[in-house]
Amino acid sequence: MVDKSLMDNFERRFILLGGKGGVGKTSISASIAVTFANDGQKTLIISTDPAHSLSDSFDQDLSGGELVNLDGFDNLFAMEINPQEAGGDLKSFAGVETGDEAVGDIMNTLSSLGFDEMGDLFDTMPPGVDEALALAKVIQFLEDEQFQDFKRIIFDTAPTGHTLRLLSLPDFLDSFIGKIYKMRIKMSNMASAFKSMMGVASQRDPSLEIMDNLKKHVTKVQEMFRDPIGTEFMIVTIPTIMAANESSRLAEQLKIEGINVNEVIINQIMPDNTDCKYCHVRAKNQNENLKFMEILFDRYNITEIPFFDKEVRGVEALTSMGKSIFI
Ligand SMILES: Nc1ncnc2c1ncn2[C@@H]1O[C@H](COP(=O)(O)OP(=O)(O)O)[C@@H](O)[C@H]1O
Ligand SMILES: [Mg+2]
Repeated sequence: MVDKSLMDNFERRFILLGGKGGVGKTSISASIAVTFANDGQKTLIISTDPAHSLSDSFDQDLSGGELVNLDGFDNLFAMEINPQEAGGDLKSFAGVETGDEAVGDIMNTLSSLGFDEMGDLFDTMPPGVDEALALAKVIQFLEDEQFQDFKRIIFDTAPTGHTLRLLSLPDFLDSFIGKIYKMRIKMSNMASAFKSMMGVASQRDPSLEIMDNLKKHVTKVQEMFRDPIGTEFMIVTIPTIMAANESSRLAEQLKIEGINVNEVIINQIMPDNTDCKYCHVRAKNQNENLKFMEILFDRYNITEIPFFDKEVRGVEALTSMGKSIFI
């Protein structure tokens, strides 16, 4: 079970879960959130998964990017952020997809002058950037007063590949945003020269401030990931050799990135049932894998969660899953 002291350790405000798709990250994040809320702790769960699986898990529509109060709770809230929208916001800050005709004209002019860098920059945007920007936006949101009294903030993150890429992204993003910043200054200088030619007074470009803020928050995401006191990063996996090896690589990668991991959650463990040959063979096989995993993850606190006979959906199912996490 997850170290029980986490329940009373209020310094550890952020909980993040990583692992490959389908292992149970969303269900476990949601059940941890429900457990904290049942303990009387004001809790927020945030998802940046474009598939909106958190809504499915709670069986309540949480999409729309706004804070939603979960039915039956006065201290549990959720928010689903669409990472594509966060990426789109950046494009419009950068002036690539803006309705502003003046900016569009300048872009065309820049383009005809051979300044195509801005378009190129977005064409070569690696996967995971949207997710990183969404997290930066979340961190920005969280500074807002309405979030200050949340005792726990749980992130339901994207699968391993993206999560891993995301971790090395802040440095990349910093230079990415820096490039956009320079382009934007170039454009705004051209725009003000153009405007002053037309006799229009020039104004400070608000998008520069927005960009500055985003840059600041990308760094904050990295800091949050690496803060061993304020953040708990748990690895979620299942008892198969493939998942075990992948999780072990994730654990190594996280270590290299300076992210502290204490907890490994092994989900979907089949109960043994000798009346059912299939179940018995699977349970036996999983048992062998579990022994291997105990050695592989001997530096971590391991939590085992059974494979329930029903899909884990709704508060009741999440509550009972939570009981096998914290006991
Ligand atoms: N311990 C479990 N027992 C039964 N079903 C589970 C369990 N854990 C997860 N599931 C189911 O498996 C599916 C994938 O889980 P999910 O939490 O969405 O994974 P992830 O977020 O890692 O992709 C969901 O339908 C969920 O209800
Ligand atoms: Mg998920």
